[in-house]
Amino acid sequence: DEFILLLNRHSASTNEEVKQYFKQQTEQAVLAATDKQTAGRGRRGRVWHSPFAQNLYFSLGLTVNLPLSALSGLSLVVGIAVADYLRQLNIYTELKWPNDIYLDGKKLGGILIELEGDFEPPCNLIVGVGLNVNMHSDESEIDQAWQSLASYRGELFSRDDLLISLSRQIKQYIEEFVQSGMSRFVQKWAQYDRYLDKQVTLMSGNNKKIGINRGIDQLGNLLLETQFGMQTISGGEISLRAT
Ligand code: ATP
Ligand code: BTN
Repeated sequence: DEFILLLNRHSASTNEEVKQYFKQQTEQAVLAATDKQTAGRGRRGRVWHSPFAQNLYFSLGLTVNLPLSALSGLSLVVGIAVADYLRQLNIYTELKWPNDIYLDGKKLGGILIELEGDFEPPCNLIVGVGLNVNMHSDESEIDQAWQSLASYRGELFSRDDLLISLSRQIKQYIEEFVQSGMSRFVQKWAQYDRYLDKQVTLMSGNNKKIGINRGIDQLGNLLLETQFGMQTISGGEISLRAT
């Protein structure tokens, strides 16, 4: 009774599936998962490589009674849910603001949050997660260093078990975020932040900002210490790079 389950062998994108689902109904939370995506995407229309039966590709559809302005920390909360869950398996991941999951210095997964409908509350949230589980080392289509749980650990993982556990954990963390906001998560973020107190470059289109990553504020905005003082950076179209 927690979610309506939409399980597929093939999907264009599970985010897109949940978007379609919301056009029919928003009464009950939904979980769409698939073995393979043919049009998996990251932020700004980048491709999310989604080979068959190796990884997790799933999206939660949840309706929450918050205005858009209160949702800026959401992708961080989802990242923390994933990192906390994996930590119980003694897998220590790091997070990159605002939406990337790293293991062993390489990209393990990512989060893509979208909204369906008007931006007035209640908001229909689409929380997409891609996590490399059993992907093996002969994949070569990804243009940055990547990691999977199996290649890190040297053993295969059950995708079914992970799907159920992770989606529960994420739903629970989002409910807590809706109830009580970011406060508990701000501390946790600092534990996982891959670039805390490091010099970083923020890119937004042709715009570039250099500063020191000083963590996040109570809304999940990035605090960047620059030569002009502390600046508050909100998510959206910004990419953070090590300088
Ligand atoms: P940022 O979000 O800060 O801009 P990013 O470069 O990681 O960082 P995203 O849009 O978040 O960009 O993610 C898409 C990128 O992730 C792709 O361009 C590709 O480099 C990489 N990628 C695609 N599929 C996978 C995968 N299965 N595992 C790891 N990395 C992947
Ligand atoms: C990123 O790093 O930019 C986010 C990647 C998000 C990938 C997941 S896989 C399930 C869901 N469906 C998609 O098309 N994208 C997300």
